[in-house]
Amino acid sequence: MMRSLVLFALGLSKVAYAAVIDQELDEGIPDTGLDTGPWTAGQVPPIAQMITANDFQIAAKNSMRARDYAYFRTGVLDEITYINNLNIWKKIRLNGFSFSDVSDVNLATTILGYEFSAPFFFAPAASAGRAHPDAEASIIRAAGNAGILYVPSISSTLDIEEKAAAAVDGQIMFHQQYIWSNDTRLRDELARIEAGGFRALFLTVDNTGVVGVRSRYERFSNSGNSAHSSSFTIEALNHLRTLTDLPIVPKGLKTAHDIKLCAELGFPAVYLSNHGGRQVDGVPTAVEILLDLHLQYPEVFDQIEIYTDGGVRRGTHIMALLALGVRAVGMGRPPIFANVFGEAGVTRLINILRQEMITEMMNMGQADVNHWFGNTTFINTRQIELEYFGAPLSVPTSSTPFIHPSPPGGSGSASNVTAKRGTMYMAMD
Ligand SMILES: Cc1cc2nc3c(=O)[nH]c(=O)nc-3n(C[C@H](O)[C@H](O)[C@H](O)COP(=O)(O)O)c2cc1C
Ligand SMILES: *[C@@H]1O[C@H](CO)[C@@H](O)[C@H](O)[C@H]1NC(C)=O
Ligand SMILES: *[C@@H]1O[C@H](CO)[C@@H](O)[C@H](O)[C@H]1NC(C)=O
Ligand SMILES: *[C@@H]1O[C@H](CO)[C@@H](O)[C@H](O)[C@H]1NC(C)=O
Repeated sequence: MMRSLVLFALGLSKVAYAAVIDQELDEGIPDTGLDTGPWTAGQVPPIAQMITANDFQIAAKNSMRARDYAYFRTGVLDEITYINNLNIWKKIRLNGFSFSDVSDVNLATTILGYEFSAPFFFAPAASAGRAHPDAEASIIRAAGNAGILYVPSISSTLDIEEKAAAAVDGQIMFHQQYIWSNDTRLRDELARIEAGGFRALFLTVDNTGVVGVRSRYERFSNSGNSAHSSSFTIEALNHLRTLTDLPIVPKGLKTAHDIKLCAELGFPAVYLSNHGGRQVDGVPTAVEILLDLHLQYPEVFDQIEIYTDGGVRRGTHIMALLALGVRAVGMGRPPIFANVFGEAGVTRLINILRQEMITEMMNMGQADVNHWFGNTTFINTRQIELEYFGAPLSVPTSSTPFIHPSPPGGSGSASNVTAKRGTMYMAMD
């Protein structure tokens, strides 16, 4: 502020004002000491200053048109769910264990049977071109070169064929689809997605008929009609399944009930999401619904893969969700904000997240991501349970289950979550 005033006093007001952005007050994200004072409003800052996923959001706020930033940033109504997504991590305690060999770190895993270099992916987020002229192509290339899954939105800046053409050699992508009320359009796009080589469909089912009332963005534009079907029943869902050979993953489930339902309907995976707090204000966070699922339908974790997202900004957030039984964790806003730097920004974001995971996993004593899935020994979620259910779910009063040292060579099956779960409700023997 001082600096701007001085420049102004010197008659240098054409030199744009420094952008002083209060990360905590303005954006609800933790202050980690990023100094925006020397930045020039309307320009991207030096990429070397991007140290955390949240830094890219501040860079985007500083450099994007106000209406475009508002479109990316907005939640629905009072953004209670949006903020809760970002804050739920404050109530989780991680249990780290000493005395283990963490010299061999592994983040690689499979998502829907395909191999990726990490258990996080980039979620569908519309209109990437608002951040960078390369639009989705820079996210595709960064993800492809890093072996990370990206699932572009059907409401992308680029069309389906352009996205397919932007893929790097051997890159596996899934594609998102909405249930358009125009059936011709729906079928036409499904065929083009298949022809484009995308391996699976994230079918978004939380956006029926209308988009949420996104007040922050409505200051620039009316939300209005989404052109999505408003009568998407189980019958319609079953009919849609006959229209494509691609595996379908329903995205935007927001209750344990709907997850159980989709498991019973035979989907290979489901995607638990509140759409980044953009559809219904007041719906729970993914962590709360995962706890509910553990309570009501624990068998589901063994039947299908579960993906989730919402407010994930740190390696530790990914680790907490894996420990709760999730197979892969999505991020919507971080890559589209990082994309103000184009491919280099998205690559840097991936490296930041990978490094955070590697470092924290090593420091917690378990450096193979395949030992994290459903391994609730790593987390204590009782503060959330107490708030959400009125009482902690777990019977034992120990904050950290006792773990017997494993016999040499007896590390167990990486993909078997049955044995790993259960620790939440009963004391380890
Ligand atoms: C700007 C923006 C556009 C989005 N567009 C879509 C979309 O086209 N299809 C979809 O299924 N989800 C969409 N989402 C939701 C994301 O896939 C994801 O669920 C959400 O962003 C996760 O929360 P996060 O942004 O806190 O990571 C969008 C989210 C944002 C922020
Ligand atoms: C429905 O979609 C088709 C294919 O995209 C398009 O040609 C047609 O104009 C659409 N119909 C309406 C009523 O929008
Ligand atoms: C869960 O984590 C603990 C602590 O590191 C470890 O001892 C145990 O082997 C893990 N369980 C599985 C099934 O990987
Ligand atoms: C997982 O482990 C449980 C308990 O040891 C066992 O009953 C089950 O058959 C295993 N499932 C798979 C898929 O390996």
